Amino acid sequence: MGRERLGFDMSVRVELGERTYEVHVGAGLVARLGEVARAAIGEVGRRAFIVADSGVTATFVESAAGSLAGAGFNVTRVTIEGGERCKTLGHAERLLQELAATRHERSDLIVAIGGGAVCDLAGFVAAIYRRGVPVVHCPTTLLSMVDATVGGKTGVNLIVNGHLKKNMVGAFWQPAAVVADADTLRSLPIREFRAGLGECLKHGLIGAHAGDALLFDDTLVALKNLYNRPPDLLTDLIQRNVRVKAAIVARDEREEASDDGGGRALLNLGHTFGHVIESNSPLLHGECVALGLVAAAAVSGHLNLAPAEFLHNIRSSVKAAFVAPQPGKQARKGIETVPNAADPTIIAPLSLPPIAALIDQMHEDKKSRGGEPRIVVPLRDRRARVIRNPDPAALAAGWRAIGAE
Ligand SMILES: NC(=O)c1ccc[n+]([C@@H]2O[C@H](COP(=O)([O-])OP(=O)(O)OC[C@H]3O[C@@H](n4cnc5c(N)ncnc54)[C@H](O)[C@@H]3O)[C@@H](O)[C@H]2O)c1
Repeated sequence: MGRERLGFDMSVRVELGERTYEVHVGAGLVARLGEVARAAIGEVGRRAFIVADSGVTATFVESAAGSLAGAGFNVTRVTIEGGERCKTLGHAERLLQELAATRHERSDLIVAIGGGAVCDLAGFVAAIYRRGVPVVHCPTTLLSMVDATVGGKTGVNLIVNGHLKKNMVGAFWQPAAVVADADTLRSLPIREFRAGLGECLKHGLIGAHAGDALLFDDTLVALKNLYNRPPDLLTDLIQRNVRVKAAIVARDEREEASDDGGGRALLNLGHTFGHVIESNSPLLHGECVALGLVAAAAVSGHLNLAPAEFLHNIRSSVKAAFVAPQPGKQARKGIETVPNAADPTIIAPLSLPPIAALIDQMHEDKKSRGGEPRIVVPLRDRRARVIRNPDPAALAAGWRAIGAE
């Protein structure tokens, strides 16, 4: 991605005092999982309990288990169907029972191998089993590499009065280490890959808060190759995104900073709109965040915080990011392609409820305070700002920008 090309094992430190850890990013890193885990937790832990996502290839999980065994761990493995449905208290209880049955001790290790859902679940179990045991995350989706496994948020969902309440039960529990092996992304379905790109664009738009004002533009330049998933390019992309998230988390580990303190609230860019889109459409979270970025850019325009061409630029960037190579053109063998390059869910308007109803739903967002929504809006210099209780006309401008009426 132009600015930096440092090789294949790049680590980023998440600086959190005694909870500091390394996020290793590279290709073929799963072979070093045992070594990394051993270095992170020391010699005391004897057992490694793997929680594996069923979507990850068996060979990848085998390599992980082999590497842990090679580092002296006695390995137990449980496979869980990945995706949002695994984030329940029921699954957490099952894992807790199995841990207890294997006599897992306080110094023993949990290893999560999977997407953000499996890592959130396994991280939560690690936080509460015997009041906390070490966890190493081995994220296998782009989104979980750049976002979910950095920062220590873990948790499961609740169903309340028939409605899904995401991440209602959880804990902050920082991992001992993270190993993000870009090779595993080869088997990731294309829409999941694209959803991860949505979060990457978000990081790019706040990159200047973490010393990387070029990330957004470099990502756009790299797009034509990214869908082929070359490990070196992915390593660069993931590492730079992890750096942005790590820098923000290091300033505000528990999301307690004031709105203008450059803290974790910035990571909600695109999310207030995104969550509402998510509950009204079949789109994936990262896809909704990307549309949320367009809406948030329209709010910036409406509030005169950015010029009109800014919205145009963000909209065309999201479109560019969401168009994958056509079959037979750039796609490398073994990598899935979207049959119609112009994805209808992004190019055509979504079928959303009326704007007034959408704005009502924004007031219910869990990040709103006292029913007062807070919107993070992007500025032109790759920074963002939190707006409290924005004018409904500004919110309506946001919704109109993505086709709501
Ligand atoms: N803790 C945090 O800070 C944080 C941040 C962002 C998102 N999240 C959470 O992350 C979750 C979303 O994570 P996600 O986008 O990774 O999706 P996901 O975990 O739901 O996984 C998506 C699908 O990809 C499959 N999969 C995983 N790795 C694969 C691979 N290498 N090859 C093929 N298939 C694979 C899974 O089985 C699943 O079917 C949500 O629950 C969200 O709340 C947490």
